[in-house]
Amino acid sequence: MSSLVIQPQKPPLKGTVRVPGDKSISHRAVMLAAIAQGTSVIRNWLPAGDTIATLEAMSALGTPIKIERISDQAWHLEIEGRGFHGIRKPVHALDCRNAGTCMRLLAGILAGQRFPSVLEGSEQLRQRPMGRIVSPLRQMGADIETRDERAPLHIRPAELNGIDYVLPVASAQVKSAILLAGLYARGETRVYQPGPARDHTERLLQAMGAIIQNEDRWIILQPPFGNGSLSDASISEKKARPETELQPLDLTVPGDLSSAAFLLVAAAIVPHSQITIRDVGHNETRTGILDIIAAMGGAIEVSNRHTTGGEPAVDLSTHFDELHSTTVAGDTVVRAIDEFPAWAVAATQAAGPSTLREATELRVKEVDRISLLAGELRKMAVPIQEHPDGFTVSGPIRLQGAVVDSHGDHRLGMALAVAGLVATEPTRVDNAECIADSFPGFVETMVSLGANITWSESL
Ligand code: S3P
Repeated sequence: MSSLVIQPQKPPLKGTVRVPGDKSISHRAVMLAAIAQGTSVIRNWLPAGDTIATLEAMSALGTPIKIERISDQAWHLEIEGRGFHGIRKPVHALDCRNAGTCMRLLAGILAGQRFPSVLEGSEQLRQRPMGRIVSPLRQMGADIETRDERAPLHIRPAELNGIDYVLPVASAQVKSAILLAGLYARGETRVYQPGPARDHTERLLQAMGAIIQNEDRWIILQPPFGNGSLSDASISEKKARPETELQPLDLTVPGDLSSAAFLLVAAAIVPHSQITIRDVGHNETRTGILDIIAAMGGAIEVSNRHTTGGEPAVDLSTHFDELHSTTVAGDTVVRAIDEFPAWAVAATQAAGPSTLREATELRVKEVDRISLLAGELRKMAVPIQEHPDGFTVSGPIRLQGAVVDSHGDHRLGMALAVAGLVATEPTRVDNAECIADSFPGFVETMVSLGANITWSESL
């Protein structure tokens, strides 16, 4: 087991850095490139535990992938897509490791294939709910067997039909699984989202030539093969209409705002800090954390607005400020869904009671992010009050250094490391290797900003 040791931060954090590529876009780009027709080029792809699971799965499905390892934080990929039905039956079960996005999105693609497949995952992923994708996919006609609505998923070939589906929660993973299955379905697929879940799948599909529109909160995907399905008859029709295939991608993945969030919070709470993060994704379905920090009186300056890979990207600068409390609920929760471990740490330094509500989804992330986050922060002397759908932290609090545990959750691990910066004694975060599930080079990046964080092997 690897642990991180964090010393109380004396000098301010200063500098200009980049964060690795966006995890959500990296997963999707590889999957979609594999079922496109032609060679896709993907630059600044994120080589993290979660996304490598997707890369290996697409490779096990017979997709030729050339990798150029630019650094530990960025790979360039060349993916030879062979069309909607160009992927092949894998020899073994596909291992999604800890990655919910890998399992849920891939299930959508595999439900429409003419071969059987099995999706497996880590012990942690096997605890997570899969009924939320299996149920709508079955409504489309998919043949999926589960272990009590959890992984492993056994998927057998089936003819799919488009459906109208109202998402019970604003989940991008569920929305994407349905849309990806919709690529293989007869008739339109329509998904209603109750909140603004991240829209990377829709953007990529549109860039690749799929016909996909938004009407209010409905997302409507036209089947690429008209009203036929991808049965053998429509496959021969496809040969006569090659334009119905997805076009290959040529994109540079922007930096991951969800990784940047840890650095932004660190700079906001360590006195006199001033940092800039370059080329970070600024998709409005993801920028909730920027709105929340601004509502707490934090200064976030947005500059160098540009577009990369069909996504808005910017440079973000921030500095230390006296923060005050805020309440977060509603659509902002959806737009910041991965940022609450980091935000909880900011809330410990803000004056007044900060409350998160309407965030029950946090209980079914990599771990139960409400109860485990509360349990670990309490070890650092944070009086945190749990609610069924969130928590309240009343600050400002003098954090005490402690031995805490990530519980195998990358975001919990990074949040606790950031908390350690403002503790009065050293902090040890156990089980910290999982940080590389989303942010390879987190420690190096923090050290380059002046943090005193080191790895230590513990028993
Ligand atoms: C993701 C969607 C979100 C998010 C996860 C990545 C995605 O999950 O929490 O880290 O890439 O689609 P939900 O769709 O379950 O909200």
